[in-house]
Formats: sequence, C-alpha cells, structure tokens
Amino acid sequence: NTIENGSFTWSSPSNIALVKYWGKKEHQIPENPSISFTLDNCKTTTALSFSKKENQEEFSFEVFLDGEKKDDFKPKIKTFFKRVEAYLPFLKTYHFKIETSNTFPHSSGIASSASGMSALALCLMSIEKELSSDVSEVDFIQKASFLARLGSGSACRSLEGDLVVWGKHTEIKGSSDLFGVKYPYEVHENFKNYRDTILLVDKGEKQVSSTVGHNLMHGHPFAQERFKQANNNLSEIISILKKGDLDKFIAVVESEALTLHAMMMTSMPYFILMKPNTLEIINKIWAYRKQTGSKVCFTLDAGANVHVLFPDAETKNVLEFIQNELVVFCQKGQYINDKIGFGAKQS
Ligand code: PMV
Repeated sequence: NTIENGSFTWSSPSNIALVKYWGKKEHQIPENPSISFTLDNCKTTTALSFSKKENQEEFSFEVFLDGEKKDDFKPKIKTFFKRVEAYLPFLKTYHFKIETSNTFPHSSGIASSASGMSALALCLMSIEKELSSDVSEVDFIQKASFLARLGSGSACRSLEGDLVVWGKHTEIKGSSDLFGVKYPYEVHENFKNYRDTILLVDKGEKQVSSTVGHNLMHGHPFAQERFKQANNNLSEIISILKKGDLDKFIAVVESEALTLHAMMMTSMPYFILMKPNTLEIINKIWAYRKQTGSKVCFTLDAGANVHVLFPDAETKNVLEFIQNELVVFCQKGQYINDKIGFGAKQS
C-alpha cells in the first residue's frame, strides 16, 4: 500500500498515577509496575497531516501548539521519532505537520507529555494501519501504547481507561513492561466516577526534568526497597479496588505520593519539587478528613501541584471545602475539576 498524503486526529487524556513510576532501565523499561486513573477533561488533541516527500534520508516535520509554530518542541519529537523508527518504517517517507492543543492552560505545570505523546502515537498508528491493513483493534492500542512509552513512559497509560497498569506484575494478568494494559479485575462502585481536582500551586518550569529524576534512581541508596514497595502497593491496590476500602486506598495513595518526593529529596543531587503551598494544602486535607470523616486524599506528580482525589458521592462537600480553604493556595486561584475517564478518541 502507498498513500500520498492524509491526516488523522486523536484526543488523548492525561493520567494520574496511584502507584508511581519513578526509575527506569534502558529503552524506557520501568523499574517497577505502576497503576493510574485515566483523566477525562485534561487532554491533548493532535492532528497529524502527512505528505510524501522526495528526500527519504531524514525526518521532516513541523509542530504547532494552538496554531503557533513551536520549534522548541522539535528536539523531543525528533528523539521520539528516532526511538520509534524501527517500528514505523514509513517515518522518513513523509513530511509531517503536527498540530496540537491542550484543554488545560500550557505551562500550568500539568504534564502534557502523557496526553501529547499518546495522541501523537495514536496518529502514527492510524497511518500504520492504513498502510498495512492487518492491524487488529487490540494490536492497534497495544502498539500505540508501546510507541507512546518510547515518547514518555507514563504516556503508555493514557490510551484506555479507567485504570491502566504498566509494568510486569505477577498478580496482574497480561501486564507488561512494554505497554499499558487496562486493569483487568473487579473495581468496587466506590471508585465509579472518582474525582480529581487539580490545584495549580506552581505553574513555573520544573527545575528538574523527569528524565533527570528517573536517572537519579540509578545508584540511589533506597532504590531497591522503593521498587519492592511499589510492587507490594500494587498487590494491595488489587484488593482495595475490589473491596472498595477507601481508608486503605488513602493510605497507599498518599504514601506513594510522599515516597515519590522522598526519593527526590534523598537522591544525589537532591531536589525538592513541592512548594510551601503544597504542604499547606496537604495539612488542610488531613485536618478536613479528621473533622468530617471525609475520604478525600491527595496525590502528587513530579511537581508542586496537588491532585485532590475523592469519591463522586462527596463531590458537593469537597468542592465547597476546596473553594473555601484550598483555592487561596493556588496560583491565581486556578484549579481544574476532573474525573476518571475512559481513554483516547479518534475524531
Ligand atoms: O512519564 P515520565 O517519564 O514523565 O515520568 C513521570 C513519572 C511520574 O509522573 C512522576 C509518576 C507516574 O507514574 O506518572
């Protein structure tokens, strides 16, 4: 099959890890398995247009964010193209125009790499499918996740919903280090429509990229224990999700968030991504829980923003609490209400 030109568009959501991925081996292989909630409102939409070109010696592409040319995105995409070239033989035969936009404000400190890389991987897979028609639905998603992983590790968890596991775990059937898989077991209705309100504490550029952070896990004094702990926490999450035990859920999720940041604080060189307001928010959440018996909890990514997680049934009360007590700690009072979502969509 040959195709002269065309265009594909995919929207792909962000995700928030419950058990964190921090530390990787060569070729974006995670040191430990992780599990995440797929989000719903926070997404990237990417249109990939392609046209046959003469010179087939090198990659050729241009990138636009919200209609504006973004040359500073090119190195990251070039690295991605180099990594996936072996799996997408057409990459050098086309010129690509990548037009992308996010539903969340850019430079909000919300990582767009998971949603962005998964959307791009899906667009590329759509071309691959046109060229070789024997790609099944399962193969399509699996390979797209495989490719997304090579762009940004956590991106491989953004294609499906509502819970995705990435990394080999003995108790999770079908799990793999190479791609994310939809969580295959029973999930209690307590977790249905689970909410995530993202408090934008600091919108500045991260001082330490996640690539550097992952690498600092090599030779880290606590690394091996941490990887074991993540494995155990994932085992525990299986029964928590089945039974709907929200107290145990809170304990695992908050411990995972603080452990992630503890790894950063104890690496060499050490660094701190939390801000004073991150801690203010955490303390307020703990106090509110004690006062009210609420099952609200927090988690963190590699940054200062706080993800406030809570059951759907508590939405009214927790949103009031956020409005009354937490918004003052957000930059310009900004936050994003989101909930568990079901993955990427073609448009
Ligand atoms: O996907 P990366 O390489 O940017 O790593 C991100 C890792 C964390 O967001 C901190 C945790 C996770 O599992 O998503």
